[in-house]
Amino acid sequence: MERIGILTSGGDCAGMNAALRSAVRTARKKGVEVYGFKHGFVGILEKDFISLDSRHVSGILQRGGTVLQSARCEEFKTNKGQEKGFSNLKELGVGGMIVIGGDGSLNGAFVLHQMGMPTVGIPATIDNDIYGTDMSIGVDTALNTITHAIDTIRDTASSHDRAFIIEVMGRHSGYLALTAAIASGAEAAVIPEVPYDLGAIADNLLQRYEAGKTNSIIIVAEGGSDAYTIERKLKHRIGYETRITVLGHLQRGGEPSVFDRLLASEFGMRAVEALLEGRSGEMVALQSNEYLAIPFEEVFAHKKVIPQRLLELAETLSS
Ligand code: ADP
Ligand code: F6P
Repeated sequence: MERIGILTSGGDCAGMNAALRSAVRTARKKGVEVYGFKHGFVGILEKDFISLDSRHVSGILQRGGTVLQSARCEEFKTNKGQEKGFSNLKELGVGGMIVIGGDGSLNGAFVLHQMGMPTVGIPATIDNDIYGTDMSIGVDTALNTITHAIDTIRDTASSHDRAFIIEVMGRHSGYLALTAAIASGAEAAVIPEVPYDLGAIADNLLQRYEAGKTNSIIIVAEGGSDAYTIERKLKHRIGYETRITVLGHLQRGGEPSVFDRLLASEFGMRAVEALLEGRSGEMVALQSNEYLAIPFEEVFAHKKVIPQRLLELAETLSS
């Protein structure tokens, strides 16, 4: 394989640049040329790319976002778009592809593989909703950002005897909300995976209020509900005055944590090695502290579930 392509797609996250840097440096060291496609799958359809050498990826390890830029590309979901993308890659002499992104982007990678383009995926999304890997790139950084924000909000919450309802990202996944709740000592978390009982949350908060607890934090995953709805329903039942904070895209940016830099560096190198070993249709992954690669078929045949233990931990510590 003389030339590989790489792209970042879907929601950006911290650590994408670190993965890109690692893949480029690994490939260049082995004498393989790298085309970096801009704006996710759009770059393939528009043949918008740059040839990347080690110099191009200097100084990006510690930067959030993605220097290749990202996009959501509806055209690549169609047969016509996929055929166009595949034939453009062939025309450009690209012999293998690395796709860095979330669940949707990895579906796009699977399509390329099925069409006959050797392709390896790197899981990167703050949602941590990709089956087969304990952690995706970006999760740890987002969690650190959220936890820092909640610690900060706790100061003002405790100064005013208030309950804060804090909304975090996670379209279909409560992982960020639940783990942030554990890490920040929140009093409750509302997540899409578990039906929530607002009556029980209200009773718990009221009891705490009456026992003299001066503040509380309720974390809501956007896929579970939204902060405004939860506030409206809780407001008159809990004693505390309430305020809302929606953390929004603050959670996606920022310099990657050390964990994400290490994870992304490993994933980038392993993705290139897999392609050069003639493998395709796999996602690099981390399971129980071991790096491995698993077939896309397996990734998409399952839905990642929140470990029961995490639910128990959150429940016990907030009681
Ligand atoms: P994420 O990768 O963060 O989950 P999306 O679900 O929005 O983000 O997907 C990102 C992009 O991946 C889409 O805009 C599209 O270009 C591509 N994609 C998603 N699903 C598919 C699919 N089933 N087939 C081909 N490409 C897809
Ligand atoms: O999938 C990652 C994610 O950050 C979700 O948690 C969130 O719902 C979504 O992307 C937001 O997407 P956008 O940046 O397009 O608004």
